[in-house]
Amino acid sequence: MNITVIGTGYVGLVQGIIMADFGHNVTCVDIDEKKIKELEKGQIPIYEPGLEELLNKNISSKNIKFTTDLKNAMKESEIIFIAVGTPPALDGSADLKYVLNVASEIGDNLEKYTVVVNKSTVPVGTGKLVKETIKKQLNLRNIDIDFDVVSNPEFLKEGKAVQDCVNPDRVVIGYETKRSLDLMKKLYRKLEEKNIPFVFTNLETSEMIKYACNAFLAVKISYINEIALLAEKVGANTEEISKAMGMDNRISPKFLNCGPGYGGSCFPKDTKALVKIGNDFNEEMSVVNAAIYANEKQKLRIVEKIKKEMKGLNDKTIGILGLSFKPDTDDVRDAPSLDIIKELITNGAKIRAYCPKGIKEAKWRLKKFEKNITYCNDEYEVSTNSDSIILTTEWSQFKNLKFDKLREKMKDNFYFDLRNLHNKNPEIKKIFKYFATGM
Ligand code: UDX
Repeated sequence: MNITVIGTGYVGLVQGIIMADFGHNVTCVDIDEKKIKELEKGQIPIYEPGLEELLNKNISSKNIKFTTDLKNAMKESEIIFIAVGTPPALDGSADLKYVLNVASEIGDNLEKYTVVVNKSTVPVGTGKLVKETIKKQLNLRNIDIDFDVVSNPEFLKEGKAVQDCVNPDRVVIGYETKRSLDLMKKLYRKLEEKNIPFVFTNLETSEMIKYACNAFLAVKISYINEIALLAEKVGANTEEISKAMGMDNRISPKFLNCGPGYGGSCFPKDTKALVKIGNDFNEEMSVVNAAIYANEKQKLRIVEKIKKEMKGLNDKTIGILGLSFKPDTDDVRDAPSLDIIKELITNGAKIRAYCPKGIKEAKWRLKKFEKNITYCNDEYEVSTNSDSIILTTEWSQFKNLKFDKLREKMKDNFYFDLRNLHNKNPEIKKIFKYFATGM
């Protein structure tokens, strides 16, 4: 099939490359010329394991191409994916300007029946809004061309994007006509053959599913983080609590790891957007609201604990291990490390930070604080003259740290393990004043 994917961010790029790998003819469109040029050369602007190899394979087999020319790309397309960003507006709602701009451009250039698929996470009702926007442009052109809008939310996790797309837990398709449904089934035949479950529903339900899933997972994390705060006070062990909770198969063990709070491009943004949608329809999303509050509280509590244990932070040097919001990604959007670093600096600390992939992005996100941050070349460099280490992201390379080497150049020996990466390792407790989280 001929497919156009508009937007080469995380979602669009992965979708385009995987669809090409399924054997479709894919054209990826973006307004960023520099990015398109790099992609044509097989270079991806993000760090995502396995993606660049897959891109190069499909460039060689000519299944994928890149362009800034939407009009031309659309000509042959049976399906167009809208996968542009929906950044949060000031009031927490998802800003739809990019999605609607694309919809109106599609309306300006549509020449034959096409299915327009919303892949971006968008508020309930956006499918209908996209449809109206395209129709309006067709009316301005004084022509009547049939088209359908479909909602097909993305559930991929960063760092595991390729495997999530090739082997999703389910595919959700919100549709209005049989014609569009048949084309979507044809598009995903490879997944159907693998017995991946499909959910076919209306546009609004499909749009809600995405928010309901992400907000639920955020609630689950905030829940275990609050349990962890209480566990520390009463002398309980959150790891054992999570393990026992997870043995109840109604609860499931996943997303029950306590830590510094959730971050990334989805949970913070989607929880706030869901609360806003609730407000718009006069329905308070009180549980989700509480999860957002608990997530902010979590980061502050962690700094309070560090400050208390270290007897103040003024003029202390703190080594940070991990800046990205989770391992195997260079994404630092809404990473807990950012808020924690800002709070530590506000309390008088100096930072030495290292992250395998996140430094470049953290540098500009923490620009205002740059005079108090030294970025290091490896995990051992952060320890020079440091009073404490804080492990913020559980990159697997941190698991096998040589603790004595890390300790050598430190002034003091505090170690706060926000992800409980070393908790089972007795060695660390001999060398450091070690603080796990939630116990
Ligand atoms: C998430 C959803 O999982 C995915 O389905 C959706 O499409 C996009 O949002 P992602 O943001 O890539 O994916 O990361 P995820 O692995 O879900 O982690 C999100 C955040 O929660 C991270 O900051 C992570 O550290 C945190 N987390 C996760 C915990 O603190 N504890 C856990 O047990 C699990």
